[in-house]
Amino acid sequence: MTFTYDYYKKSADFLLERFGERPEIGIILGSGLGHFAGELEDPVTVPYGEIPNFLRSTAVGHAGQMLFGTVAGKKVVCMSGRFHYYEGYSLEELSIPVRVLKLLGIRALILTNAAGAVNLDYKPGDIMVISDHIKLSLGSPMRGANVDEFGPRFFDMGSAYTPNLRALALKLAERSKLTVHEGVYWYAPGPQYETPAEIRAIRALGGDAVGMSTVTEALTASHCSLPLLALSVMTNMAAGVLPVPLTSEEVIETANAIEAPFTEYVKDIIANI
Ligand code: HPA
Repeated sequence: MTFTYDYYKKSADFLLERFGERPEIGIILGSGLGHFAGELEDPVTVPYGEIPNFLRSTAVGHAGQMLFGTVAGKKVVCMSGRFHYYEGYSLEELSIPVRVLKLLGIRALILTNAAGAVNLDYKPGDIMVISDHIKLSLGSPMRGANVDEFGPRFFDMGSAYTPNLRALALKLAERSKLTVHEGVYWYAPGPQYETPAEIRAIRALGGDAVGMSTVTEALTASHCSLPLLALSVMTNMAAGVLPVPLTSEEVIETANAIEAPFTEYVKDIIANI
């Protein structure tokens, strides 16, 4: 399937009509991190199924709706439920959410995700501000005919994770109750968790955390010059660090356990963007 500018615009026009206003900031919520959606004042909620040309969410812990409302005085559009390669979407289809958010007019995008801690100095419940990523697996959401309205064929990834948003997040961490690091996110397409040997390789190659999302969205945001902040919640130590199997229950449990301080932290960031 070839996606044209008009393909994405159809979804965005529909949402703008429903919202009645343009959002300033977009946020995509990760596994177990959907509670933030409850913070929106006077929300307008649109299930993904009603949005033309959009995708449908199938992942555990993901609600599947777009919300528009006010947080900390800012107009925010929130995707409660995201889309992943392991659900069966092509990487190209995974360009849809961020391009639609871009067309809504947001001036910054915040991505949150659950991730496994590869860096042995990190603990479950810690946060990592993503400084950069490593994706050695094949493909790109920007593969295929370039949509020139969004950006050029070949595009820079040198400051995909916007430096001043990272600096803001690290500064605001000081007054939050969370332990916040800055590090490199390794993209693992999943749905299997990694093997212990893969985690040792990821660590040797410079990854601090590993997860199955975010990178397709970061690539899409970078292509269309959308300022980006991405926050990983360490929901577990990565495979092989502890002598226990990894489960999605553990991931959701840890994410839920830091819900309150994480929500406060993200609200503070939104207030100051
Ligand atoms: N690996 C990959 N994705 C994840 C993990 C992990 O350990 N934890 C949460 N998402």
